[in-house]
Amino acid sequence: MDMGLEGARALVTGSSEGIGHAVARGLAAEGARVAICARREETLERAAERIREETGAEVHAFTADLSRSEDCDRVVARAAEALGGLDVLVNNVGQIKLAGIEELSDADWRAEIERNVMSAVRCSRAAWPHLKEKSGRVVNITGLAGKQVHLPGDMATSLTKAALNSFTKTLAHDGAAHGILVNNVCPGPIETEGMPERIGWIADRLGVSYEDAVRNRERVSILNRLGTPEEVANVAVFLASKRASFVTGVTVEVDGGAASYI
Ligand SMILES: NC(=O)c1ccc[n+]([C@@H]2O[C@H](COP(=O)([O-])OP(=O)(O)OC[C@H]3O[C@@H](n4cnc5c(N)ncnc54)[C@H](OP(=O)(O)O)[C@@H]3O)[C@@H](O)[C@H]2O)c1
Repeated sequence: MDMGLEGARALVTGSSEGIGHAVARGLAAEGARVAICARREETLERAAERIREETGAEVHAFTADLSRSEDCDRVVARAAEALGGLDVLVNNVGQIKLAGIEELSDADWRAEIERNVMSAVRCSRAAWPHLKEKSGRVVNITGLAGKQVHLPGDMATSLTKAALNSFTKTLAHDGAAHGILVNNVCPGPIETEGMPERIGWIADRLGVSYEDAVRNRERVSILNRLGTPEEVANVAVFLASKRASFVTGVTVEVDGGAASYI
């Protein structure tokens, strides 16, 4: 299937590793020109080079901390300048912070909201004038915790991802007048670079071995395994493509059947 992404101009946030990197690579493989960003410069440059080598695509890399308002504006402006506009924005920056109520100060809560919600709000606002030009696409990477809770430690992730779900719905209404389609991809447990830290927390909290905590995460999915970043990216690339032309305001789970709601 031709995804209609040849020459599309795409910005993927938080894209030196994990799901964001797989989405940027997936878009590049479909012929998109991409901009990527992350905080650590060396990892980011290596990631950009890897995408160039694997796909031959034009890739621009910008170091930024998207928890900061000014960095969101700067990255969107620089990406649009380098690519000559923007057709696709993938808001992937986010973190799964596992912690209980007594472990989260006001500052921690604010940090989670800045990173998981406000980064997407600010990047979408900054990209909006560009996206309006050619009926663009916004794809937000949410998470199952925004709809269903597996662990008490999901508190901050659940609240922020639920807020992102709500943002997507309302932004889709805003975008409709301009032909901009806005959707969520909702990953279940995915094996990424950040996974070992999370598994360590779960093992600690449940008082089980690391291996048993891995099994615990695998069993969340009815397919009895963790997903891969590429499996999430495949759906994000589709939603970013011209083929998803009558899909907006929805959340697509990529969770191996983990969601138990109907
Ligand atoms: N993995 C899962 O099981 C899972 C499940 C549900 C939802 N999700 C969601 O999927 C998204 C990606 O998760 P992941 O597991 O792929 O994460 P990851 O492996 O930790 O990768 C995160 C990427 O984002 C960058 N990043 C992190 N914070 C940033 C910031 N403040 N500003 C700019 N870049 C930043 C990181 O690079 P630097 O560290 O250099 O900045 C890295 O490139 C998140 O929104 C997460 O909540 C993941």
